Amino acid sequence: MTESRNSNTYPPTAEFAAQANVTAADYEAAAEDRLGFWADKARSLVDWKTPFTETLDWSNPPFARWFGDGQLNVAANCLDRHVEAGNGDRVAIHFEGEPGDSRSITYAELTTEVKKAANALASLGVSQGDRVAIYMPMIPETVIAMLACARLGAAHSVVFGGFSADALHSRILDAEARVVITADGGYRRGKPSSLKPAVDAALAKGDTPVDHVVVVERTGEDVAWVEGRDKKWADVVGQQSEEHEAEAFDAENPLFVLYTSGTTGKPKGILHTSGGYLTQSTYSVFATFDLKPETDVFWCTADVGWVTGHTYIVYGPLSAGATQVIYEGTPDTPDKGRWWSIVEKYGVSILYTAPTAIRTCMKWGDDIPAQYDLSSLRLLGSVGEPINPEAWTWYRRVIGGDRCPVIDTWWQTETGAHMIAPMPGLVPTKPGSSQRALPGISVKIFDDEGQSLGNDQPGLLVIDEPWPAMLRGVYGDPERYKDTYWSRFDGIYFAGDGARFDEDGDIWFLGRVDDVMNVSGHRLSTAEIESSLVAHDAVAEAAVVGAADETSGQAVYAFVILRAEVEETDDMEEKLRAHVGSDIGPIAKPKRIHIVDELPKTRSGKIVRRLLKDLAENKGVGDSSTLADASVMDLISQQVSSS
Ligand code: WT7
Repeated sequence: MTESRNSNTYPPTAEFAAQANVTAADYEAAAEDRLGFWADKARSLVDWKTPFTETLDWSNPPFARWFGDGQLNVAANCLDRHVEAGNGDRVAIHFEGEPGDSRSITYAELTTEVKKAANALASLGVSQGDRVAIYMPMIPETVIAMLACARLGAAHSVVFGGFSADALHSRILDAEARVVITADGGYRRGKPSSLKPAVDAALAKGDTPVDHVVVVERTGEDVAWVEGRDKKWADVVGQQSEEHEAEAFDAENPLFVLYTSGTTGKPKGILHTSGGYLTQSTYSVFATFDLKPETDVFWCTADVGWVTGHTYIVYGPLSAGATQVIYEGTPDTPDKGRWWSIVEKYGVSILYTAPTAIRTCMKWGDDIPAQYDLSSLRLLGSVGEPINPEAWTWYRRVIGGDRCPVIDTWWQTETGAHMIAPMPGLVPTKPGSSQRALPGISVKIFDDEGQSLGNDQPGLLVIDEPWPAMLRGVYGDPERYKDTYWSRFDGIYFAGDGARFDEDGDIWFLGRVDDVMNVSGHRLSTAEIESSLVAHDAVAEAAVVGAADETSGQAVYAFVILRAEVEETDDMEEKLRAHVGSDIGPIAKPKRIHIVDELPKTRSGKIVRRLLKDLAENKGVGDSSTLADASVMDLISQQVSSS
């Protein structure tokens, strides 16, 4: 991604600054007493059934316990407490469906629906300590299902609806889920897109502990039915009582497991727990987005299948009492003005989306958003990958009417909530930079030896103090948790991102330093796609790289050597792309698969992906002196340009 310097900064308007939630006092309080700061936030932003007395137990690093002796119910914090405070009539969710259907759900209604769904899950035997897999489109029932699990103290494991049956199967197995909640399908680009068949295929692979599948009817399409196992949501939830007493669970009770790609083949189940996660999620909604729950309309365009949806559609906004928009479909259906018509329709005031989407809208042209009234907007957020200054400035000018602060938020599935972002109202924003750690968060940039770097020196981003929403582990694999995150620098969290402070001390992200790719803000592992390719009968060896792409940030390029006995046919590339699509999911399909005779390897046999990346980025053949055979790159380059 371009990382051009841009010294222009955009101070907040006096009007914005005067009403901002975060002031310098937050930074001062956190600097003076970091744990005291978080204890205050936990007490003021979260309702505890049993107040905590200990803020952080870090006696057994890297296993943290935040607010460890406190008890709470996360769902009651997102629902009942708003109703009890007299805000039951406030809209929690404006749902906008792809076919144009819409419904608005108040906090009182959402609370009732979650209570019924909790009763339904309890009737299927779900209780504290269980895991429930959720494989759903972007509809209100998805949020209801997640909160129903939380209400019972069971952890959900949401699997993005774009993942394949195989990917779903391995996640169900790893998380040991007993129940799957799904839908017949959802709508994509104006057409029904099925989900239930993938659940059937995943469970047909066997060995799963699943004994119930609950199916929401969304598209009404015919689906296969396994008697005894499959149940209609309308039947199991519809008949339930509207009463459900929310039990309090320990602050460290698991809230969810969410799988994410790492540097090795198998996705990791990132484990998050209750009290700390809810505290930081809620705080960040007030701080980063400057939320005013009475007047704002918040819209995060992410899918609930990613952490952004977990924290900034479900837990953060609902705990904060926000009114938000949930949209099922894509930005270009039925036309390219769809998003802006939604902003206009609901008077969206805070919009949170990804650079890929911004760049796509930019390509479509200024005249499309110009047809809509976007004057309700007052803050714009970005997440998922570095935002190039060009896209940042376009977002601010064309969407934000040159008045809205653009807030670039850096965080990860593992961090649970925002870690680095300029606090609006306090910090002049700078195109392309994520700028500062949030109050109460401590980050540094290290060199390879673990020395802390000053301004203008690129290095590795680390988090050197535990934080409330931090992951509590990799599900079922404490060693992998220690190895992946805490061993690069002893006792310090290693994020996997390159970064540098500029001359003002503002942070710029430089992309991943490991074999993790970022395509349209989605994390993909080179190793995972390589192992999918070599699992295909025709493939002997594969190397995968993420190469810079104008729209998606990075795009997946694969280089494969076919088995000797396999003949290269014209449809081979398409066949292999389809194979990766069905093995992992459509998002993992390489943009190009080049069939080559050799891969660049060092004398010890390691593939030098950097050279393939240069090739995919049209940078020519780089320094190949470390290769066992320096002529290999010329051969590959010829094969690539003729394919
Ligand atoms: C990785 C985390 C955080 C929710 C969405 C992705 C990259 C994320 C930014 C940003 C530069 C960013 C990092 C990070 N990333 N936000 N604002 N600027 N890079 O969550 O799938 O866990 O991916 O996304 O490389 O490590 P994720």
